[in-house]
Amino acid sequence: MLELVGRFGKKTVQPETGLSILELALKNNVDWGFSCTRGTCARCRCYISQGMELLEEPTEAEIARLDPEEFDEGFRLGCQARIKEIGPIKATNKTYF
Ligand code: FES
Repeated sequence: MLELVGRFGKKTVQPETGLSILELALKNNVDWGFSCTRGTCARCRCYISQGMELLEEPTEAEIARLDPEEFDEGFRLGCQARIKEIGPIKATNKTYF
């Protein structure tokens, strides 16, 4: 299952391979910050506390936008991070501001 912690509450939803964290949040009416959907604004940034290995590798846009330390700490961009495999994942929307 995929637990999404949005800005005003959390929801457990069904993950789908190929869809991004942001797409799944929007599809399931979780209030998730976003603007560009192209990996530049970072409003969709999220902390992955479980299931990082179930996500696709970071995209080029994501690597350009986030610092290496952020990846080490478990952060991803929700609009870029896609589900690779089904399993337990927990993502918390954490924008910078
Ligand atoms: S929505 Fe802008 S970086 Fe994801």
